Amino acid sequence: MRVAGPDDLSALYRFEVLCFREHRFRRDHIDWILRHERALTLVEDGPEGVTAAMMLLFEGSVCRVLSVAVAPEHRRRGIGTRMMRAAETTCQERGLSAIRLEVSTSNLAAIEFYRKLGYRTDGVLRGYYSWGEDAYSMHKATLPTVSDPLPSSHMT
Ligand SMILES: CC(C)(COP(=O)(O)OP(=O)(O)OC[C@H]1O[C@@H](n2cnc3c(N)ncnc32)[C@H](O)[C@@H]1OP(=O)(O)O)[C@@H](O)C(=O)NCCC(=O)NCCS
Repeated sequence: MRVAGPDDLSALYRFEVLCFREHRFRRDHIDWILRHERALTLVEDGPEGVTAAMMLLFEGSVCRVLSVAVAPEHRRRGIGTRMMRAAETTCQERGLSAIRLEVSTSNLAAIEFYRKLGYRTDGVLRGYYSWGEDAYSMHKATLPTVSDPLPSSHMT
């Protein structure tokens, strides 16, 4: 897994077209994400190009998953789970308290995927998408990693 940058735009747009039959991100939107200082895009490469990609946006103490996708022929092998675990590790390292995401109420595969990973639905966003579909708002709390334990004098 590696961090993607602006040079990955064409490969990531091709990947977007491969993974989403409709309602995909526009090329200029992906470019905006790749250049945004509070966004992070992680990719997995395979012999034939990008195998998986995930786009994160950091908003205060919360990390928002803008998109996660795995190439169709590589699905159901745990790659998506590995990507989301990487997002959770990133949150913990940055001391963030939660990961949030929105998912179309019709994307049953993704809803099950997130549910299995421990994400909980906290609302329905009516007409959330520009094409009119509703979304579920989901979240998972992340515990910060303890990298700087209290000195022993504080533990009495
Ligand atoms: C959602 C997605 C990222 C999952 O990636 P993946 O690598 O296939 O996921 P995993 O192999 O880690 O699956 C973990 C679990 O999620 C659930 N799951 C994943 N895909 C599922 C599906 N199509 N139907 C039902 N459950 C599914 C299962 O419980 C699965 O565990 P199992 O295989 O042991 O049954 C992938 O299907 C995808 O790219 N979809 C298109 C893009 C998309 O809709 N992204 C989400 C919105 S941005």
